[in-house]
Amino acid sequence: MKPTTTRRVLITGGAGFIGSHLVDHLVQRGDHVDVVDNMSTGSAANLANVDLQHVTIIEDCVTNALDHLDAGQYNSIYHLAAAVGVRLVIDEPIRTIETNVLETSALLRFASKHAIPTLLASTSEVYGKGMKTPFAEDDEVVYGPTIFSRWSYACSKAIDEYLALAYYRQHKLPVVIMRFFNTVGPRQTGEYGMVLPRFVAAALLGKPLEVHGDGAQTRCFCDVRDVVDVLPRMVELESCAGEVFNIGTDVTISIRDLAKLVCKTLHSSSPIVTIPYDSAFGEGFEDLRTRQPDLRKIRNAVGFAPKYDLVQTIRDIATEFRSQSPSSLESMA
Ligand SMILES: NC(=O)c1ccc[n+]([C@@H]2O[C@H](COP(=O)([O-])OP(=O)(O)OC[C@H]3O[C@@H](n4cnc5c(N)ncnc54)[C@H](O)[C@@H]3O)[C@@H](O)[C@H]2O)c1
Repeated sequence: MKPTTTRRVLITGGAGFIGSHLVDHLVQRGDHVDVVDNMSTGSAANLANVDLQHVTIIEDCVTNALDHLDAGQYNSIYHLAAAVGVRLVIDEPIRTIETNVLETSALLRFASKHAIPTLLASTSEVYGKGMKTPFAEDDEVVYGPTIFSRWSYACSKAIDEYLALAYYRQHKLPVVIMRFFNTVGPRQTGEYGMVLPRFVAAALLGKPLEVHGDGAQTRCFCDVRDVVDVLPRMVELESCAGEVFNIGTDVTISIRDLAKLVCKTLHSSSPIVTIPYDSAFGEGFEDLRTRQPDLRKIRNAVGFAPKYDLVQTIRDIATEFRSQSPSSLESMA
């Protein structure tokens, strides 16, 4: 039975970077949040400030945890648990594929028992190496050969999307798919290859900022606090069910300029060095020159308009990092 006063939501991956900000946001508006997280890339520290009267933390993998939960008690479900990060995807392809496909399959089966409105976290990586700019939700997807495990993340997330849409069509599961573009902010760790926390950690330590490739490749970085602000509306609006949305900002910056901006914002004299892709990620690594979202669909649906600018985000990450030990920064830089 759903509670009549307090909304109860389930977040898988709720101890992760985006998940923990979503927990904060939902608790702030009065929801009770159940978090399922196996703490593989997430951490209890991300939830250290939550009021445990309003949050229940279940430390387990998704499949195990769902065996002990009643889907009928939830008003909505956010599925964020996944194997993420370029480094992790290349080093541990089995874990990447199995986590992303099997855990999502179990989650969708669980949610569909009571047709609980569900949000599935997908990724801009799903567009693969398509050349179009910006990417719109119904654009073609293009992947490299299967001998390069780099594409396994994109393919595993694409399978998740197919499966979610199949549940929508066959079982009327109200599921919305969000393709996150680069999301940044406090609590993101650089340990698994994320660029901005790596740069901020290096700049604070006075170490070189390592730019992969020639640095002319461009990306769009959206603050996590803007992203989590809109997610509840996406899952609660009936008209969004069965739809795929890009989410992020469409303001582009080259990776070399990002490195310069980090140094300038933090008054760091760290050098900026370039590392060939092959040295960083092994032979055959392919990167996209640009990855920019077409945001017309989400703007039309909910008027999405990010508020944070990148300089503010860099400052906030640095403030968080300054309170950490030099050894934890070393592991990211
Ligand atoms: N951060 C980004 O820029 C970005 C971009 C595109 C897509 N995404 C997607 O957003 C979601 C959240 O990513 P994030 O950046 O917060 O990464 P994250 O690694 O911080 O969060 C993922 C969380 O899932 C947990 N997890 C992993 N496997 C699990 C399992 N089997 N059972 C339970 N928990 C498990 C991890 O411990 C972690 O807390 C992911 O689905 C990711 O693919 C993120």
